[in-house]
Amino acid sequence: MNSSLRKPLVAGNWKMFGNRAEAARLVEGLVASGAGSGPAEVVVCPPFVYLADVGRQLQGSGIGIGGQDVCAEETGAQTGEVAASMLVDVGCRYVIVGHSERRALYSESDDLVARKFAAASRHGLVPILCVGESLQEREDDATRTVILRQLDAVLSMSDIGTFARAVVAYEPVWAIGTGRTASPAQAQEVHALIRGRIGEKDATIAASLRVLYGGSVKAVNAAELFAMPDVDGGLIGGASLKADEFASICAAAGR
Ligand code: PGA
Repeated sequence: MNSSLRKPLVAGNWKMFGNRAEAARLVEGLVASGAGSGPAEVVVCPPFVYLADVGRQLQGSGIGIGGQDVCAEETGAQTGEVAASMLVDVGCRYVIVGHSERRALYSESDDLVARKFAAASRHGLVPILCVGESLQEREDDATRTVILRQLDAVLSMSDIGTFARAVVAYEPVWAIGTGRTASPAQAQEVHALIRGRIGEKDATIAASLRVLYGGSVKAVNAAELFAMPDVDGGLIGGASLKADEFASICAAAGR
């Protein structure tokens, strides 16, 4: 992080873990930690069914809420889906789109992710667009191609202006939940690639775009990752389920 244009952001992706009581305890711990009153912006993304409760509990804490996914459609016969307008309705400011688990387990294509990004943007939500290569792709030297393909799919559907209110998260698939983190240099290389691509369209937007790193970020490795010039915070999975650990990561992002 080296730009005063970009306020660091730490987003917790709870995935499909926990229950109502555990969510309440986690939020209690987070509020008590004061994570929301530091220099970094902090948001948690609980499962849909807990959003309203968690949002109420976080009121006044400075910590925001976001969805883990969103439907590409506006409204209608879409059993099981949640619209962007509904996320706004329960107080979300952010939504994760194109997480690698959605892409891999639910066959979300680049095109569908781009439509979800557009739906979120239309409703004033800040999309956290996830991009990342698999281990095979990295070993095949295809990292650059994959990242640019995923990014370009969104750029071809949404005007560059939408990136003024968007966040990109670089999440190498091989680092998610594996305990294997990208080195700060590996992260920096891809973050610079992402910012560079956005910069080809609009230098001002690129300079203010927050690019988060995600993949086995923990309190012990957060500071060195966040010290990289193009790493503006993190998207945190496992470590966001522990209040103290997550609070330490938020503190590292604010330094
Ligand atoms: P992890 O997950 O921190 O548990 O690796 C990150 C993510 O999937 O967003």
